[in-house]
Amino acid sequence: MYKPNKVITLGQFIIERQTDFPYAKGELSRLLRDIGIAAKIVNREVNKAGLVDILGEAGTDNVQGESQKKLDVYANEQFIAALSSGGETCAVASEENEEMINIESAVSKNAKYVVAIDPLDGSSNIDVNVSVGTIFSIYRRTTLTGKSDLSDFMQKGTDQIAAGYVIYGSSTMLVYTTGKGVNGFTLDPSIGEFCLSHPDMTIPKTGNIYSINEGNYLHFPDGVKKYMKYCQEEDAATKRPYASRYVGSLVADFHRNMLKGGIYIYPTTTKSPKGKLRLMYECNPLAMIIEQAGGKASDGFNRILDIQPTTLHQRTPLFIGSSDMVNKAEEMMTRYSQVSV
Ligand code: AHG
Ligand code: MN
Ligand code: MN
Repeated sequence: MYKPNKVITLGQFIIERQTDFPYAKGELSRLLRDIGIAAKIVNREVNKAGLVDILGEAGTDNVQGESQKKLDVYANEQFIAALSSGGETCAVASEENEEMINIESAVSKNAKYVVAIDPLDGSSNIDVNVSVGTIFSIYRRTTLTGKSDLSDFMQKGTDQIAAGYVIYGSSTMLVYTTGKGVNGFTLDPSIGEFCLSHPDMTIPKTGNIYSINEGNYLHFPDGVKKYMKYCQEEDAATKRPYASRYVGSLVADFHRNMLKGGIYIYPTTTKSPKGKLRLMYECNPLAMIIEQAGGKASDGFNRILDIQPTTLHQRTPLFIGSSDMVNKAEEMMTRYSQVSV
């Protein structure tokens, strides 16, 4: 008997699920749709990155006489443009901009949301054909009238309305949550649509992969050193030693661990005493996703989502992944690196 393939596109899925949203249903749907469109445009450019030698280096003119942009700048412009013309976002905080950006387009007058974004994560991997990504976080604005200000962004991760990431990899995927589970969509380039491929994603409770930049070992807190030794010990019952995997694109390391189980750690180091990763547009959105998928995100002692932000680009150490593994790492931190950061 003929059985039609039921393909659900991101657009259809968002509309079907908008009853999940407590308020402003249509508006959040449109915002998510705008992010999906920008992701497709960035994807097109990321895929062309290897042609840069033929088409022109960043900073030079391409064959059309247009100046080539660095991809992180390009991605930033695309997401800001999509959010500005979409009309649902009144302000954007981006890794690429020191200050928050007020969107003052006519269509954004009554916009209810602010977006924090890392437009291109893992940018050092572009030139070597390794996966990169985009990470985003959506909050409802708290200021009631007039221009949006910093206070709209100084909300805890627990206040996020939605969060997600895009991975530009061997295939391109968009994964997001609105607080009712996590769903993943794979871009089908032949029809130009993100299609539901990973419904109701959950992370295994434990895993056997640990991801950390071991080159910084000497500068890690003792708790992290002890946890790494724990990962390397032989123990058949817990499938140790674990495998070490570190791509250097947070999104890629995170996505692999989501699917297979594992832990990603970027701790404090002597060089980066507060850690390297940014709370607003790297740690909080991934923390919301991991919790929605049944995992855990911590700064080594406390829940990431409970941190009260005080600045747009503030950093935090990050321990994220399978809950059993993060619990174990926290236990080591408490035992050997008592001083909370
Ligand atoms: P970005 O490209 O947005 O600046 O982020 C880079 C981040 C993250 O993607 C990655 O996991 C981490 O930096 C790698 O840092 P190290 O090279 O210090 O390990
Ligand atoms: Mn990043
Ligand atoms: Mn970036």
